[in-house]
Amino acid sequence: MNKAFPDNFLWGGATAANQLEGAYLTDGKGLSVADAMPGGKERFKIIGSKEFVWQIDEAKYRYPNHKGIDHYQRFKEDIALFAKMGFKCYRFSIAWSRIFPQGDEQTPNEKGLAFYDQLIDECLKYGIEPVVTISHYEMPLNLAKAYGGWKNRQLIDFYERFAAVVLNRYYKKVRYWMTFNEINSAFHFPALSQGMVPSNGGDDYQNIFQAWHHQFVASAKAVKIAHELDPAVQVGCMLIYATTYSYDANPINQVATLIANQEFNYFCGDVQIRGQYPAFTQRIFEKYGVTELDIVDGDLSLLADYPVDYIGFSYYMSMAVNETDPDPETSAGNLLGGVSNPFLKASEWGWQIDPAGLRIALNELYDRYQKPVFIVENGLGALDQPDENHYVADDYRIDYLRAHIEAMAEALQDGVDLMGYTPWGCIDLVSASTGEMSKRYGFIYVDLDDEGNGTCDRFEKKSFDWYKKVIASKGQDLS
Ligand code: BG6
Repeated sequence: MNKAFPDNFLWGGATAANQLEGAYLTDGKGLSVADAMPGGKERFKIIGSKEFVWQIDEAKYRYPNHKGIDHYQRFKEDIALFAKMGFKCYRFSIAWSRIFPQGDEQTPNEKGLAFYDQLIDECLKYGIEPVVTISHYEMPLNLAKAYGGWKNRQLIDFYERFAAVVLNRYYKKVRYWMTFNEINSAFHFPALSQGMVPSNGGDDYQNIFQAWHHQFVASAKAVKIAHELDPAVQVGCMLIYATTYSYDANPINQVATLIANQEFNYFCGDVQIRGQYPAFTQRIFEKYGVTELDIVDGDLSLLADYPVDYIGFSYYMSMAVNETDPDPETSAGNLLGGVSNPFLKASEWGWQIDPAGLRIALNELYDRYQKPVFIVENGLGALDQPDENHYVADDYRIDYLRAHIEAMAEALQDGVDLMGYTPWGCIDLVSASTGEMSKRYGFIYVDLDDEGNGTCDRFEKKSFDWYKKVIASKGQDLS
């Protein structure tokens, strides 16, 4: 039993449009970069190859994001299930390509907006606070193909137009926003958030850092729009955070860990949260061969004037750094692999499970920035085995979540200002890294397999009742 969680704590769950909505061309939606990503374990290998040019080849590949879990048609049923669990909030994203199908239009697609009108009203009907990611690994494909993705400065205007439309339309109903999902993930993989693959410059750090600069400016513009509409609206950044340990006490590895943290965990956050490029910027640029960025007058003051209000972040696993071993054992991970940590067990996909690392992450982020933090993704991707009634006894998932909630309670007692917790994929959906359905995170089982077979019907898992009890008891009953 713990009494750490405040009454207004935002318990909920998280999803992203491209991974569950489906209906990829319905009601005027345009193609997105996610729609061009083939399903299966080879997904990153295919889109990371020099040959990949954002073409959809249905004769050769399956595209599971096209169907998602048919949330576009079934959202009322899904929100009702979230309400049954007692969600206080629901984090979802708005598909940019539903609102601006090509990305560069002047006027939005009213039918796309009508869908989010309904989705948001459905949440509010149950007293569920919507938490909206403006751009979650889904930008109009046209912006990647015709404009070269975020390295092109014109993207700032297109994003600003998109953000202005949705903020104006929903600011009275939606109080919590995030500008870009896992913005720092581009360090290893710019396809998802920057629309850049090797064939359009995604293999060049000059482009990645230039694209980030444009995203930082775009993010600041979104904060400005939101605050001018209503200063009480809160806009966060969204970082992928991997607590990073030195493999041992060797100072060489300690320094390597410091640098790994600066490069991956802190660079983007420092700009978005503190409003300025960190002191170590030049050092990183030298290491990655980045020459001066194209920064125009007014950019830096915009960053300084409109930092984010809170820190949204995802946490699934920790990392270890070992530079002194020329051939260390490695492990897989959330868009980034690393050195295996002998003290940790890994998920079936090789992600190293580390609840204590979450307590550390919360303390590190809060100590560094002194702004509220919000865990907007966390969870265990696992192979569920449903019985003949489609019931999944997912004790392994309950164990994972319980340990992470216990770590959150510790961090709250450490003094961290933690706003809420939205476990990832609260309903099973298409995996971002592999495009698999069989990598499941949900409290709700969706009858759909990797080949797209199944009824798509929803079934409550054992973790559904467990999480309902956790929320009802305000995090006190984790049994
Ligand atoms: C995060 C993303 O990286 O992790 C989500 O924001 C993603 O979009 C989640 O789905 C889990 O990763 P995966 O690859 O297991 O789906």
